[in-house]
Amino acid sequence: MEEKTASKTDAPKRFAAQDLRGWLDRVEALGELKRVNGAHWNLELGCITELNNRQRGPCLLFDDIVDYPSGFRIVTGTTGTPARLAATLRLPTNLSTAELVKALREKSRDWSARAGDFPPQYVDSGPVLENIKSGVNLLEFPAPKWNELDGGRFLGTGDAVVTRGLESDWINVGTYRLMVHDERTCSLKIAPGHHGREQMEQHFRAGKPFPVIASLGHAPLLFLYASVELPAGVCEYDYIGAVMGEPVKVIRGELTGLPMPAAAEIVLEGFCRPGNMKEDGPFGEFLGYYSGHEVPEPVFEVERIYHRNDPILLGSPPGRPPQDFSYSKTMLRSALLHDALEKAGMPVVACWADEVGGGRTLLTVSVRQQYQGQARQVGLMASQCHVGAWLGRFVIVVDEDIDPSNLADVMWAVSTRCDPARDIQILERTWGTKMDPVSVTFDQKVPYHSRAVIDACRTYEYRDVFPPVAEASPEFQRQIREKWKDLLGTGD
Ligand SMILES: Cc1cc2nc3c(=O)[nH]c(=O)nc-3n(C[C@H](O)[C@H](O)[C@H](O)COP(=O)(O)O)c2cc1C
Repeated sequence: MEEKTASKTDAPKRFAAQDLRGWLDRVEALGELKRVNGAHWNLELGCITELNNRQRGPCLLFDDIVDYPSGFRIVTGTTGTPARLAATLRLPTNLSTAELVKALREKSRDWSARAGDFPPQYVDSGPVLENIKSGVNLLEFPAPKWNELDGGRFLGTGDAVVTRGLESDWINVGTYRLMVHDERTCSLKIAPGHHGREQMEQHFRAGKPFPVIASLGHAPLLFLYASVELPAGVCEYDYIGAVMGEPVKVIRGELTGLPMPAAAEIVLEGFCRPGNMKEDGPFGEFLGYYSGHEVPEPVFEVERIYHRNDPILLGSPPGRPPQDFSYSKTMLRSALLHDALEKAGMPVVACWADEVGGGRTLLTVSVRQQYQGQARQVGLMASQCHVGAWLGRFVIVVDEDIDPSNLADVMWAVSTRCDPARDIQILERTWGTKMDPVSVTFDQKVPYHSRAVIDACRTYEYRDVFPPVAEASPEFQRQIREKWKDLLGTGD
């Protein structure tokens, strides 16, 4: 067994801005970190995380996990509040959700444009090299069994899996779950259509092993963008380099040559090989069901582990929303959807990928209608553009007076401005997945699903004669609030 261990003092300070530990210090200073000692990896840690996320509690740092040495830690709930998400995105931490969406919108346009200016910077050393092991034991780390009906222990949830295709140099970083099979292997589940999947299939079609690097603990910024739809060809390292305003420092893996974050906590390196498949799941999925069935997925044969002293896993279990990442996904996907529609020339006022649908199945877009058919055009685009297409179900288009993030407002518009027979368009045979709980009701083997685009705008040609809204005008409301503020408050 080849093994190297370095002392803690080897961790250079120059990585602090890019690592999970610097981020934890920041969040602790905000008063949003709680330490939890003594929880069991088997279900207890998962249930604490679930209940904490449901009440939008603090970020939790678990230590002294039963059966594991002190210092082998797990963090959950990293980006569940506006302040923690803003801290991750280098934005002011005093913003409300509405202000944060706006700031994120403005910034994400800039980050997309500048990603190409921040390719990762290759360095020779970094904290992740403190321990290098080829005597692999995945259960050295406290992989949780998160939910009662899970088929195993999931080591990778908030992970960042680094891969490259055979046909280009484009490096992709995606969050794909890893379920432990034994000390040396785990499953790597990449859904069809996801970028890593295409890269894997290119290798398998050519009969070649697929090189993989999986980072299991890192600054939450990497997790945020590894798990959201950046366009094909954009490397997530470049994108987060633009967010940070400096390139991500990476080290070449000794076996695969793939770049791992130099400040990562734990990195696995190895290969998936054509034909080596094993049952994965079930797992509590992000729509709130055990809907991914036990099916064979590629086996990740881990040949090397790199880790920091006292390593920290970044756990982010899915499950019934609101869950560990539904708030951040809602925020990021809303911004990316806005970006995509604006680039397509649509007069979008605001977008919202609601948490109730895990940030995917329910999208609402408000528009300032300029011509007949435009509301439908926006709805169809939102339902089929890259960020909105996978596992979509409903797209609702509303007028600009409706706040898409206010579900009561949105459903009022649907209930009052939409004539179902005329204003709901169904698209059939669109991009589905077996992970969708309704899949069980379909006979078809390939998961095509349908979409509903709901036009809840005032009908364009009747907008001038559409009955006025029966509420006090904004100016009159303001005057009355001012006069009766002891009774009504300021309304802020
Ligand atoms: C915690 C978490 C776990 C996820 N697990 C998987 C998974 O196992 N397989 C998968 O294909 N996508 C999974 N996703 C969704 C992908 O990360 C997401 O769709 C991402 O955009 C895929 O990246 P890609 O388009 O570069 O392939 C997960 C997302 C999160 C937040």
